[in-house]
Amino acid sequence: MSLGGGGTLGPVTWPSAEPLTTGDLRLDPLRVADAGEMAGVLADESLYRFTGGSAPAPSRLRARYRSQVRGASSDGTQGWLNWIVRPEPPGAAVGFVQATLERRSRTFEDLLVASLGWVVGPVWQGRGIATRATGAVLEWLVSRGVAEFRAHIHPDNAASQKVAAKLGFRPTGLVLDGEIRWVLEVSGSG
Ligand SMILES: CC(C)(COP(=O)(O)OP(=O)(O)OC[C@H]1O[C@@H](n2cnc3c(N)ncnc32)[C@H](O)[C@@H]1OP(=O)(O)O)[C@@H](O)C(=O)NCCC(=O)NCCS
Repeated sequence: MSLGGGGTLGPVTWPSAEPLTTGDLRLDPLRVADAGEMAGVLADESLYRFTGGSAPAPSRLRARYRSQVRGASSDGTQGWLNWIVRPEPPGAAVGFVQATLERRSRTFEDLLVASLGWVVGPVWQGRGIATRATGAVLEWLVSRGVAEFRAHIHPDNAASQKVAAKLGFRPTGLVLDGEIRWVLEVSGSG
């Protein structure tokens, strides 16, 4: 289903994540060296209630980050952009925002689509951090030509649905692996 590496679309150069700021939040492009600190942020099993998975050991996270910092899938069809979220002060990591970019071809149209993911450590939840951090990523991606955003959210994940709704996403009727696809289309970009 994914496009962008071949066919009539030609090779794709994906944007690289850049440092972003919004209010008191700093979003730094992911580094492999963040794995140790992030293993602590991601240690609470409550984070996986609606998404599946489990708390990663630092070594596993380091391996995952080594792959993610390459910035694209090995076949080139996806761009991988990741940011670590840090409120300032104190500047310690509290979560991450992830964007997977794909190029979609439609009749008369070739557009960039980003699937977004967001996670904030339990201690820092309920302060608007996911909404503000993801909003900054969204705005930056629009400036890079992304025309459609997607998020896949478990129907019982009320906090994540609220984040999506506050950002302007709307639920669709599409259910994938038990998660509902939420979509935000941006007019006039790309
Ligand atoms: C989803 C998540 C990122 C939200 O992070 P956050 O920084 O707390 O989000 P925000 O504070 O920006 O917004 C959360 C909203 O949900 C609300 N909320 C939190 N828990 C809720 C619950 N159980 N029921 C209803 N609303 C809830 C908050 O009050 C807030 O709404 P408000 O701004 O109107 O008060 C965080 O809960 C998380 O990391 N969860 C685990 C990972 C996950 O599920 N990621 C999303 C995968 S799709």
